[in-house]
Amino acid sequence: MQKRYGRITGWGAYVPEKVLTNHDLEKMVDTSDEWIVQRTGIQQRHIAGPEETNATMSTEAARRALAKANLDAADLDLIIVATTTGDHLTPAVSSQVQHMLGATDVPAFVLSNGCTGFLYALTTAQQFISSGAYDNVLVIGAELLSRYVDWTDRNTCVLFGDAAAAFVLQATTEPCGLLSFDMGSDGSGSQHIIAPAAGSAEPVNASTFEEGRHFIRMNGREVFKFATRILGTTSQRSLAQAGLSLEDIDRIVPHQANLRIIQAAARSMDLPMDRFLVTVHKYANTSAASIPLAICDGLESGEIKLDDRLLLVSFGSGLTWASAVLQMAPVQSHQVYTNGASAPAISELVTA
Ligand SMILES: CC(C)(COP(=O)(O)OP(=O)(O)OC[C@H]1O[C@@H](n2cnc3c(N)ncnc32)[C@H](O)[C@@H]1OP(=O)(O)O)[C@@H](O)C(=O)NCCC(=O)NCCS
Repeated sequence: MQKRYGRITGWGAYVPEKVLTNHDLEKMVDTSDEWIVQRTGIQQRHIAGPEETNATMSTEAARRALAKANLDAADLDLIIVATTTGDHLTPAVSSQVQHMLGATDVPAFVLSNGCTGFLYALTTAQQFISSGAYDNVLVIGAELLSRYVDWTDRNTCVLFGDAAAAFVLQATTEPCGLLSFDMGSDGSGSQHIIAPAAGSAEPVNASTFEEGRHFIRMNGREVFKFATRILGTTSQRSLAQAGLSLEDIDRIVPHQANLRIIQAAARSMDLPMDRFLVTVHKYANTSAASIPLAICDGLESGEIKLDDRLLLVSFGSGLTWASAVLQMAPVQSHQVYTNGASAPAISELVTA
């Protein structure tokens, strides 16, 4: 069988309308816009309204991605939703999304891996395509973290936002899509990002509820150290696997958790910051939605071109990490566009 790749033919994002600024947070907890911007780069985050759920956000992002791909939901072969904040413990939110999309009988599952979930899901989707099992796969990264943070805890509540973003992958024999990946996990650091009483080990009861043990807790300093250590290492592994170097990459799309972590990654890779896509100031950390949302935002703003070769890199709870080289579209002779050089406009490529 000829080698099969998963081309990204559609992408779409959904962010809730409601914006919560740092100044709004100043009225809720003992914090300041200055502290948040200095320590994280975050200026605002979007927060789901009372009627919105993970399923509604995921479905809207998916509809937009399917429209862009010009694909009917019924033609999907598989739906994967990367999320840790589904509507219910069971059923998996992926089945609700499948139903709401009208993707009758299409298999669907959730991949629950925190902030690295989307890259794990993209890699999984690619395996189904390269094996020949499926042709059309929808991958969604969605998170409704505002309902899992303690809005009285300034250590965490300033960091997260809600969003969903989706990619449609379609089989092709032209080299594109995921060219390589690296994934890893170190459960010895599991306590560093944890919602202790939101699972079966510690069922919620009056006392865990009272202590807020169902909310996300984080050892920020440890996560920071881990992130700055792992981003460069996993990136190099993905590049080596693809037989590429950083010079062959147009844009790096890191997990959008904290601007200082991205700056540290830039220093460790000896690269200028303008090689990194940054959206954390607008959306904060949207966990599994962070990387696909950043890519959708970059495509919209023109910061990412349709024929770009991207390095995606993420870290998160687990602790886990993942990276991948993603070639957005097949191109005959790939050209690297750095520092905003003469890359073609999206409109030229869309109609090409
Ligand atoms: C969370 C994070 C921004 C904190 O920044 P930091 O420079 O490490 O700050 P520290 O945790 O050392 O806290 C310094 C002080 O700021 C305070 N502080 C924490 N949050 C604050 C806030 N929102 N506003 C004001 N002060 C705050 C702390 O209480 C502490 O005060 P103290 O010295 O009196 O105890 C940073 O550690 C971080 O980004 N870590 C990674 C988090 C992450 O990426 N998580 C997602 C993983 S997917």
